[in-house]
Order: sequence, then structure tokens, then C-alpha cells
Amino acid sequence: MSIIYSPEEGLITLRTKNTVYQMKADEIGTLLHTWYGEDTGEEDLSYAIHRMNRGFSGNPHEKGMTDRSYSFDQLPLETATFGAGDYRTAAIMVRHEDGSRALRLRFSGCRICPGKYTLPDLPASVEDKDDKAETLIVTMEDPEGGVKAELFYGVFPEKDVITRALRLTNTGRGEKRILKAAPLSLDFITGEYDLISFNGKWAKERVPERQALRCGVQSFGSVRGASSHHHNPSAILCEPSATEDKGKCWGISFVYSGEFLFEAERDMIGQTRLVLGIHPDDFEWVLQPGESFTSPEVLLTYSSEGFSGISRQFHDFIRKNIVRGYWRDRPRPILINNWEATYFYFTGEKLIEIASTAKDLGIEMLVMDDGWFGDRNSDYNALGDWEPNEEKLGMTLHELGARLEDLGMRFGIWFEPETISEDSDLFRAHPDWAIAVPGRAPDLSRSELLLDMSRRDVQDYIIEKMSAVIEEGRASYVKWDFNRSMCDKFTHALPAGRQGEMAHRFVLGTYRVLESLLTRFPELLIEGCSGGGGRFDCGMLYYTPQIWCSDNTDPVERLTIQYGTSFIYPVNTMGAHVSASPNHQTGRTTPMETRSAVAMSGTFGYELDPNRLSEEEKEEIRRGIRVFSELRELIHGGDYYRLTRPDDTGCTVFEEAAKDGKKALVTAVYDHVRANPAPVYVCLHGLKEEKNYRLRLIPGHVQKGRNNPADEAYREGQTIRGSSLMKRGIYIPQYTKEYQSWQILIEEEE
Ligand code: GLA
Repeated sequence: MSIIYSPEEGLITLRTKNTVYQMKADEIGTLLHTWYGEDTGEEDLSYAIHRMNRGFSGNPHEKGMTDRSYSFDQLPLETATFGAGDYRTAAIMVRHEDGSRALRLRFSGCRICPGKYTLPDLPASVEDKDDKAETLIVTMEDPEGGVKAELFYGVFPEKDVITRALRLTNTGRGEKRILKAAPLSLDFITGEYDLISFNGKWAKERVPERQALRCGVQSFGSVRGASSHHHNPSAILCEPSATEDKGKCWGISFVYSGEFLFEAERDMIGQTRLVLGIHPDDFEWVLQPGESFTSPEVLLTYSSEGFSGISRQFHDFIRKNIVRGYWRDRPRPILINNWEATYFYFTGEKLIEIASTAKDLGIEMLVMDDGWFGDRNSDYNALGDWEPNEEKLGMTLHELGARLEDLGMRFGIWFEPETISEDSDLFRAHPDWAIAVPGRAPDLSRSELLLDMSRRDVQDYIIEKMSAVIEEGRASYVKWDFNRSMCDKFTHALPAGRQGEMAHRFVLGTYRVLESLLTRFPELLIEGCSGGGGRFDCGMLYYTPQIWCSDNTDPVERLTIQYGTSFIYPVNTMGAHVSASPNHQTGRTTPMETRSAVAMSGTFGYELDPNRLSEEEKEEIRRGIRVFSELRELIHGGDYYRLTRPDDTGCTVFEEAAKDGKKALVTAVYDHVRANPAPVYVCLHGLKEEKNYRLRLIPGHVQKGRNNPADEAYREGQTIRGSSLMKRGIYIPQYTKEYQSWQILIEEEE
């Protein structure tokens, strides 16, 4: 039993392998949050909550005229409502029929159910076998206001993960407007904290930034219609002394792909509150009497083993409980994408040429990127016209698919389903399907507009169009792109008073299309993309087991992007390709084996024209594919450790260790060269202390004609004890050339 309710004390305790999450209903029905952290063995953790009159912190009426020590403004609350005595950041805001907004929820009961709850029309984590997940539904009511709130908790004891979601119901007589419905509201009564968020821009996503929480509210979010390149809907809260391997940390990730707001508030007495939910700026949801609104889900995990502990717990959870379906546990095909090879300029024959050389190199799938439909030869037009351009291809899509099949190659196709070009047949036929405010010229971005995915007829159109193309080409993969942010929000499908529902309904519409396609084509692999990693979140990962991590394919830049992404997301979700050198985004020239080593710690694929490569480069591709195929299970299924920070030592080092501790792969990439550099040492993780391990440099990384003594030492096949590898560490051989990389395989001696 991972959830225990003691009605006499009003105590609800959620227990996972290493953590306790607890709440307690007090004498006036306030649901106090008593603790989320390590299991201390204490039954009732509310003992630490103090009450004190602090002045200007009001007191609830039922406490009478004289008790001034009880205040919503300073008690740790399980969920925080607006306007009734708590002046801190609210998680729930409702406008009642009379225009007032005060809301006070009192505990009215709870239910414990076996298994994990699901959420209507929304992605939500799924129980895996042996998870023994349980659900808690806490009911809270505001009888005066006519609002019922149900707090959903999913408890995954073995994975140390707790999920939360929220359902609000209008139990009153008139219309209510939900202005904010954040599933996460988490109070800490003590402690100084740092907050780590993952920020960036196009071509430089998810760069971790750490800052100390100060008094007041610190926030980040997105009002772009998608989770965005700019701020990822995830964070880590940690004690100031926390490092990669040590210290108390709380990991948070939103299972949602739309607009979000993360707020961290430190109050007047040093208490901290975290709130995460749909961004309220463009959100206002109308509830008629009896109607409900369900929020997306948020994932929580706690570890006292630093950021690395959080990452490993999230990686295991995302791999098994967020990613689902046919591809969850299957090796994903090694693909070649023609985007950087040809951009818009290709024919069917050109693609076949790429595919047949690729096949010979060991690649398993060709992905036809943008430019195959309508009269799309640039990024100015034709989005929405999802009809193959047979004239340009020089063949039907069916023929192209069949020829690829004959070659033994799978076929993947690029779409940007949620968009529409003004210069398209679709726009000419349905101008009202584009998102724009009537009478106002909409903002263009990459010369395109968004389709109004909040409309059912638009969703159905996209489902039919995409299905027809997938069927005709017998495609087994779709790259689902999304190349702009949303603005000029308006839908013809809703009246003026309900336009605040549009941005969230857009996301629900996208989810519905994704779900329908997966129902029709259960073996379809969808790779998410949004100008690279502009929508990299657990909401998308529920439908798309992998997401193109960034449009930036420079391996040196990718070190930082994949490093930042790895704090929350596992390696097998990160779309990563070997591209041509010099790199198209930065002009940097890098060795092929370094490009392979970096892309290998991702889904692994190619994005170049293999017919333009030298024999030597082709041989290197074959070698890279052999190495990856041999180590795929270790890389994609193992525990991931960041051993250095990019740019810190000039050498980025990371490790993937097998769950049974028998094997590990260490990858090291020098991101710049200096004469006579300081040596780089790293301590490994995840091995068995008492076992001996053999270290082997994976061949292919030494420059011909250069002698590297360390390389010789590795090749001699010396064995080292696990405890030494983890405590004393190993030396990373020096570089023999610019952007040198090394891959070191560490295997237990029989
Ligand atoms: C986006 C994607 C790229 C490519 C182009 C095509 O930028 O991130 O990988 O598909 O669109 O237009």
C-alpha cells in the first residue's frame, strides 16, 4: 500500500521507495501540505508546522475574534486558491457568476484506487507492469462559491515518482470562469533553495541556468502556443549545496505541450511555494453548472543524490511510463533525412540514390523532409496542401515507397500538420481555418500561419489527409514539425466570451490528431519536432517517442544542447543526426567519428548526402553504425551520468552504465584545443566496487600517424577495480587533433 489515509487524524501519506509525500486536513478542513522528501520514518510530519500571529496575515472567520495565529497566508497548503486570505501565488483562480473571485477549498474526503488514473483527452503517464501504481483522489469543496476541486495523485512506488493533476467542477447555479488551474502547488516551510531551469532559443535549446531563490516571485513560461525553445516546462529545485551527485533535489516536469507558467515564490518568512500549470495570460475556461475542467499532469520526483539522481529517475519514468506503444521498447530505425542533404531541391530519383547508398552503409530508413507536397519549393507557400507533388518527385508516392521497400529501406515523411500558408489551396478554400483576429492582418512567422487546431473539422481534415499519404507511401515514420509560435489568437468556432479557451483547445486538438493516427497506424513511429527542439516535453513524448532535439547539428554545439536536455529527458528521446562538415549552422569542421559519437547518444541518424562522401568517410559511417548497433541497448537503456560540464574543462564527458553494472560507455569530446592542456580525469558511476573491469578505447578515434601514449595504455587491456574507477577515476587521453573524441568501453572481467 503506497497510499495510507487515516481519517481520525485527517492524515494522507503517499509513500514511494525512498520518499514520503504527506498532507493533513486540520480542524477547519484546511488541507495542509506537511512534507515531500526523504522518508524520515515519522508518522505525522505536521508536527513542524507552527502557527503565529505575524500581523497583516488574516484569520479565517471560524477561528473567532481572538485567535490570530491561524492564517492561510503562512500555512503550507496542499493547493493554493486565490482571494480568500492567502496572499501568495495562487494555483487556482475562479471568477464566480457575481464577478467575485474569492475561493476557499476545504477537504471533504478522498478515495484510493488501484492503478494509475487517466485524464480525458490529455497525455498522462501510464502504469507499467510491476509498477504497483495507486491513485489518490482528494476532494475539496467551496460550498459558498459552488466549486469542487479534485486533486489527483498517481503514486509509482518503485520509480519514486508522484504525479498530480486537478479537476475543477462547477457545483454552483451560474457560469464560472476558470482563470488559473495549476496542478502543481507545492509548499516548503523551511530551506534555502536554488532553482534550475532550462532556457534557450532556436538552435540552442535547454541550457541549464541555476539561480538562488530570493524573496518574491521568480517565474518562466511560454505564451507561444507551444512549450517553446525558450523555456522548457521542467525544473529542478535544490538545496544550495547540491551538485551532480549530492544534495536534496526535487524534479518537476509538465506533461503538456502548450503555454505554461512556472512560478517559485519565496515569502516573507522564508517559505517557498512552487506553482506550475497552463499559462493564465491567455486562458479563461467557461464552466456551466455541472461541467468540469481537467488540468494536464505534472510529474514530481525527489532525490538526495543530486541532479544525477533526478535525471536517472526521470529517465526511467519517461522511457517506460510516458513513452508508450509499439516503439517504447523496440530499437528505433537508424534513419537518413534529406533536409540538410537537399533542402527543397530533390526528386524521387535523388531520394532513391541517397537511400541506396545509405542502405549500403547500414542505414535503415529514408525520411523525406519538407518539399514533397503541393507546389512547395521554398518555405513561403503550400503548407496545408498535403498532396504529393508527383511532377516534382517524378513518380507517385506509392512508387517511391515501393522502390524504397525493394531496397529494404523503411520510408518516413515530414509533415507540419498544424500550419497553413496564405499561398495554399487550403487557405484559398478555408481562410477561416487560419488563426487570425478578424479585421487584423496576422503576424507571419517563417511566412506561415497556424491552422485552427481547436476546431474538430480542421482536426478531421488533417487526420484524413495524413492518413491518405501514410497509406499511399506505406510510411512507417512521420516527422511532425511545428515551425512557428502562436499569436493573434482567435477561433471562429467559439463565441467572444470563450476565446480564452482557444490556446488550450489547440493543444487538445493536436493531441487528438496524434492519438487518432496512432490508433489507425499503431506501428507508426512519430518523431516530434518544432524547428528542432521547440516542443520538447513529456506531453509530446506520450505520442512521439523521440523528438528532434535541435536544428543545430554541429556536434560541439550539440554537446551543450544534449547535456541540458539530459537533466530531464532520456537519451533515446533525443533526435540526433550526423550531418555534413563544415556544419551548415556554424561552419565548423569536425571529424566524422566525433559527429558519430555525439549523435550516438541520441536516437542516431544521418542528415547528409552520402553520395558526396569520400570512401574513407563512408567507411567511418559503417564503423559508427557497427559501434552503435553493438552498444544501442547500453546507450538507450542504461543509466546516464554527466561527468563534466561542457566548456568547463574543454572536454565534455558523459557515461552510460548498464543497469546491472557490468558495462559502461564513456564518451569524451574535446570542444577546443590548447597546447599543453591540464589533464582531464573523471570518476565513473554505476559500476560494482569489488569487480575488475577491462578498459578498451573504441577504435576509430585516433588520427593516423599520431602516437598517443594513453591510447596505447588503454589498448594494452589493463584491468581496474570498480571502486578505483568510481573513486580515483580515469584519465581521458589527450587529443591528437581538434574536436577529438574518445569512446571508452568498460566491461566487467568474467
Ligand atoms: C524545421 C525542422 C527541420 C526541417 C525544416 C523543414 O526547421 O526543424 O529539421 O524539417 O523545418 O522546413
